[in-house]
Amino acid sequence: MSKTIILSNRLPLQISIENDKLDVTPSVGGLATGLKSFHKDGDSVWVGWPGLTEEEIPEDLKEDVQKKAKEENCVAVHLTSAEIDGFYYGFSNRTVWPLFHYFMEYTESDEEHWQIYKQVNQKYADKILELYKDGDVIWVHDYQLLLVPNMIREQEPEAVIGFFNHIPFPSYEVFRTLPWRDEVLKGVLGADLIGFHTYDYERHFLSSVSRILRHQVDFNEITLPDRIVKVDSFPMGIDYRKFEQAALDHFEKTSETKSELQRRLDHHLDATPDAKLILSIDRLDYTKGIAHRIRAYEYFLDRNPEYIEKVRLVMLAVPSRSNVPQYRRLKREVDELVGRINGKFSTVNWTPIWYFYRSMPFENLIDLYTTCEIALLTPIRDGMNLVAKEYIATRTDKTGVLILSEMAGAAHEMNEALIINPNNFEQVSEALKTAFHMPKEEQMERNKMLQKRLRRYSVEKWAQDFMKALRTTRENRDAFKSIRITPEISDEILKQFRQAEKRILFIDYDGTLVDFVDKPENAKPDEDLKELIRALNESENTDVVLISGRDKNTLGSWWQDVPVELISEHGVWMRQINGEWELAENVKSEWMDAVRPVIESFVDRTPGTFIEEKNYSLAWHYRKADPELGEIRANELSNTLKELIANRGLSVLEGNKVLEIKSSDVNKGKACTKKLVGENYDFIFAIGDDWTDEYMFRELPETSYTVKVGIKKTSARYYVEGTPRVRTLLEKFNENS
Ligand code: ADP
Ligand code: G6P
Repeated sequence: MSKTIILSNRLPLQISIENDKLDVTPSVGGLATGLKSFHKDGDSVWVGWPGLTEEEIPEDLKEDVQKKAKEENCVAVHLTSAEIDGFYYGFSNRTVWPLFHYFMEYTESDEEHWQIYKQVNQKYADKILELYKDGDVIWVHDYQLLLVPNMIREQEPEAVIGFFNHIPFPSYEVFRTLPWRDEVLKGVLGADLIGFHTYDYERHFLSSVSRILRHQVDFNEITLPDRIVKVDSFPMGIDYRKFEQAALDHFEKTSETKSELQRRLDHHLDATPDAKLILSIDRLDYTKGIAHRIRAYEYFLDRNPEYIEKVRLVMLAVPSRSNVPQYRRLKREVDELVGRINGKFSTVNWTPIWYFYRSMPFENLIDLYTTCEIALLTPIRDGMNLVAKEYIATRTDKTGVLILSEMAGAAHEMNEALIINPNNFEQVSEALKTAFHMPKEEQMERNKMLQKRLRRYSVEKWAQDFMKALRTTRENRDAFKSIRITPEISDEILKQFRQAEKRILFIDYDGTLVDFVDKPENAKPDEDLKELIRALNESENTDVVLISGRDKNTLGSWWQDVPVELISEHGVWMRQINGEWELAENVKSEWMDAVRPVIESFVDRTPGTFIEEKNYSLAWHYRKADPELGEIRANELSNTLKELIANRGLSVLEGNKVLEIKSSDVNKGKACTKKLVGENYDFIFAIGDDWTDEYMFRELPETSYTVKVGIKKTSARYYVEGTPRVRTLLEKFNENS
């Protein structure tokens, strides 16, 4: 039976050793707590690190670790302390984490860490490949494993792979500073579907892919030579019922069954009935804005002394990544700030901050969520922030006020909270006052909306939606209109080729025989290619026609010494083998003087674009322009030109990063069919990569073998993945001639 394999760096269970025995506790952090519910319900196996280095686990306990993991359908991957240093404390948390959260000053670029990151990603990928069976779905999580999707894809090209990034994806301007940006993007693109919490992260990722790797991006689809990758946003939810039920159970507890913490909290509430508790919970991480929060609280008390003894900040910080210097520094800073502020404002009966630096059992989390009337969550940057959602889910009587940073992914879905900019202390201070005085009815009104949304878009729904989208992406891949040339199909085409008495091959040039380069004049044919075409043309009863949009001078000079028939400018000119150029279509060119200045004005406004002037057409190239600006301007130019040339017998062709204006009477389809008149070819083959080649595919007889290069919408019967595959196919023709 097929299964889902979840892969994340950290397993949802943390193993530690107490008195020579294994102890298992749940992991902290949004990924583990959120995904746990999906894992618990489904038929999945979760692969990850159990939290101890290989050296820390005695030989005789290693098997027990796997056993403990297995009890919860997990598989432990053991990492040595050197791997943890380079991969986890190194590249993951000193490079990717700060960079993706816009802390560029904390971002290190250490080649050794990068090497270890690659090795450990490979180790995880190998573990997945060991467990993988045909039909399984693989779901890779988060920034520690960015290279894994492609590592799996290389070994299992047909696998269904999803990737979800739980942290922000930064803007292109920030991401581009990473020395290994190409490898990182290629790694992630091994997946079929890539998910982010918000549309902003998705947009930033797409923009980086299109600018750095220069892949074509249409809306949220990326076209690779052999696949289409889909990118989408799926805001992660929580296990709503679990938190709601825990809160309901909490209120059923008697004074005997209550936790010690709750008793203390109750004592406080009884002693100061008109005071309010402000809750703050996070991992101790510089992205969470903990130091800012304390300073904003100080600002609030400084300016509003009437709240002294009326509020108390209950601050829970979970130890995290303490081997990374910035985290150690932050710990010192927070200790000092708490000490200073408690010293500054405390009275005999009151301390302004209760500070806990530890992880807490679930029961105590619920005590805090249900008891504190206000939650103050002020991350400077946060992928999602599940604490905000958990707080709202536990407010079963609908009271409570959430103050939330606009920099948290969760803010997009939690508009009814008091949304603040964590750097604006005045605003935070005002929000605290508003929260303190907010009437119960208003609190309930706001929380009603929030709860409704959170209940509906729970973590189960999130996972289901992702899985559904992953399956659809995969089905679309399978149901692609044209058929991939497999070895069997290739054999069949070759058989027809061998048996035919008279054959003709129409072959496009750019994007088909050679890859696109930045400057069109640099795409000259190499010697191997010339040899290949020469040999093909010399085969008996075989005519080869290179058919291109290029101008006749360039095409002619490149193929000067090769006996092959040429068609240039989509069919305006024809050159017989070793012959002279002849005008095949009687077209006009007077229109150019009117159109050229319009295109020139676009060249001026769009850096990186240029005009290519041919004898009977004008082409505007935008391959080197900023991809997004290029697409916008191409659209604009196309519309402008269409108006300008209406009823003049001209048309605008939209090619691969080029717009071409030419006579409507000329196209590759017409040029090809002209070649067939009066001849009885019994094997017709046409291959090309872009829109202009579609005319050939549509107009050639149905029995022709029409082949598109790359995965795109097409009228061709077949497709191949890229230019290397085209050459392999043509070489096979040569072998079979
Ligand atoms: P991040 O993933 O960056 O740590 P989130 O807010 O998304 O931040 O997730 C934090 C998760 O960790 C929540 O599910 C929360 O319940 C849990 N958590 C936070 N603090 C504690 C704590 N002190 N003890 C136990 N669990 C905690
Ligand atoms: C965030 C990350 C997770 C990570 C968690 C805890 O939620 O997105 O990938 O597991 O923090 O961090 P840690 O470094 O302890 O795994």
